[in-house]
Amino acid sequence: MYDSRFVRNLFDEMAKTYDKVNYVTSFGFSALWRKQCVDHLYISEGAIVYDLMTGMGECWPYILKSAGNKGKLIAVDFSDQMIKGAGIKKAKRKFENVVLLQKDILDSGMDDASADHIVSAFGLKTFSDKQLEILAKEVHRLLKPGGSFSFIEISKPDNNLLNGLYLFYLKKIIPFLGKLFLGNPENYRMLGTYTEQFGDCSKALEFFQKAGLIVSYKKYFYSCATGITGSRPLS
Ligand SMILES: C[S@@+](CC[C@H](N)C(=O)[O-])C[C@H]1O[C@@H](n2cnc3c(N)ncnc32)[C@H](O)[C@@H]1O
Repeated sequence: MYDSRFVRNLFDEMAKTYDKVNYVTSFGFSALWRKQCVDHLYISEGAIVYDLMTGMGECWPYILKSAGNKGKLIAVDFSDQMIKGAGIKKAKRKFENVVLLQKDILDSGMDDASADHIVSAFGLKTFSDKQLEILAKEVHRLLKPGGSFSFIEISKPDNNLLNGLYLFYLKKIIPFLGKLFLGNPENYRMLGTYTEQFGDCSKALEFFQKAGLIVSYKKYFYSCATGITGSRPLS
């Protein structure tokens, strides 16, 4: 399930319904969490920001609000349909300083030390441990010394009761809602499986530390989402 072709295909199939289902099924929390994730970066005007696993640009408004017209937002995703949706949003909202790149972030060929900030929302769960390790090295390579990053992902809450309810919700309710919107609950059921396997951001934290980054752990709403934020040391 971690094969890049499989993941790409999954998101190609979900692209049409992704933003609606995502918003409804998180009771609007996903939007709040994205904003909080971006706010951890303290983006200054004119900054170069990478939005990895950008989807259809769900994080862009929060990033662009701080980076301003002089800033540059490089949005990376490997799914044809997600990038297509992102292109439509860019044109409709006249986001002229967004550059879209269709690439696998684990093998992007983007320049060393080219980002002031890196942000990524809800893209970690479809990576295996090995892939997370590669991602951490890439984040270190892409960030300028002193540059900062913030990642967030849906997680298994640490409280047992909440965890049971949460997994029931992910595995039963979300596929049901997915079926209402899409007629195919399987893709949304897969998201529950990824989330269960992923656990929380603690493994990502270890890989990011091992890659030489300064990292701290964040919890969002009783750990229903967790995140890692931090920076590349100056030397
Ligand atoms: C759950 S969506 C998150 C989208 C968006 N960031 C948001 O906040 O909703 C995950 C996205 O990551 C992309 N993705 C997953 N693995 C990737 C990889 N190795 N390289 C580039 N994009 C990837 C998928 O195509 C999908 O659009």
